[in-house]
Amino acid sequence: MAQEVCGVIAPGKNEPVRVETIVVPDPGPGEAVVKIQACGVCHTDLHYKQGGISDDFPFLLGHEAAGIVESVGEGVTDVAPGDFVILNWRAVCGNCRACLRGRPQYCFNTHNAKQKMTLASTGQELSPALGIGAFADKTLVAAGQCTKVDPTVSPAVAGLLGCGVMAGIGAAINTGNVGRGDTVAVIGCGGVGDAAIAGARLAGAARIIAVDIDDRKLEKALTMGATHTVNSKTSDAVEAIRELTGGFGADVVIEAVGRPETYKQAFYGRDLAGTVVLVGVPTPEMKLELPLLDVFGRGGSLKSSWYGDCLPSRDFPMLIDLHQQGRLDLGAFVTETVQLDEVEKAFERMHGGDVLRSVVVL
Ligand code: APR
Ligand code: ZN
Ligand code: ZN
Repeated sequence: MAQEVCGVIAPGKNEPVRVETIVVPDPGPGEAVVKIQACGVCHTDLHYKQGGISDDFPFLLGHEAAGIVESVGEGVTDVAPGDFVILNWRAVCGNCRACLRGRPQYCFNTHNAKQKMTLASTGQELSPALGIGAFADKTLVAAGQCTKVDPTVSPAVAGLLGCGVMAGIGAAINTGNVGRGDTVAVIGCGGVGDAAIAGARLAGAARIIAVDIDDRKLEKALTMGATHTVNSKTSDAVEAIRELTGGFGADVVIEAVGRPETYKQAFYGRDLAGTVVLVGVPTPEMKLELPLLDVFGRGGSLKSSWYGDCLPSRDFPMLIDLHQQGRLDLGAFVTETVQLDEVEKAFERMHGGDVLRSVVVL
């Protein structure tokens, strides 16, 4: 029997979001219905509301979530009712050219639930944010979007691994391949940048330089594992990174803003043969201009990190275990918990730079 539950809807471009009754169908083949316990508020949800991602309104927002599997459809064997899971937006297909070559973390054919959730009032089909839609009591996803983890972890903490925090940690440990003794600089210390700092610490980086234009963010970055801070509003980021790395630049520079000027800082703040990781997401009008000779002459690699190049089945349980052992403080990313009807307020606070993550707890 399809169920009616509450969910946060973005009804139209820039219209305030609101709680509405939605219809969640029973899971079909390969699908699961998950009872959501917590879901973080991410910039991407705000971008959906602003019409910056697509025009497929109404959206069912929310995608950094954890909860309990309530029911599964035909053929689902990896998860079962009662399992505690983190939702992901990389349900790998197993058959695309990336998967077939043993690189499922790049899967080019990820999937979501086939059936649609709808608005109870009008019957309109909903577009779930990143194929998840978890600012809701329950949501319908593809079973592959559910990753089982240690159920003793707090749901508010676990859910954050589903998107921004995984993107940052993965930018350091997967894409940047940060290793013991490396010097690392992270430009932009919001949720994603701070997670990159935590990831670099976890990987054994010797020196972690946090760069931001906001002193509040730099203070916080120190608590996440940064060993040095640079305010790039009052000093030159590239010079400061070089000064802190024996005059050479960092082995790995992670750009967690997504702007041409900060990308250039990353490019020139890196040692010869070093690595730049772009995890900040640019907008369509942004252009990058660099002397091609510098691209050649400085060597190394220039990489982008999609979702931290994570493989949920490999990375989520491992990072939750490290958190449970006290080796990775995921709790530090939860600034506040809020109710389902407070998402609009959480967007405002996010915009003001006051929070790393507000988490809706259901
Ligand atoms: N130089 C340095 N830091 C900057 C600059 C700049 N020119 N402009 C902004 N920042 C800092 C902000 O002060 C803030 O601390 O970047 C940080 C951005 O943090 P958030 O807005 O919290 O964003 P976050 O969730 O961390 O995401 C960062 O990664 O996944 C992408 O879409 C996401 O592009 C976004 C980026
Ligand atoms: Zn695939
Ligand atoms: Zn997100």
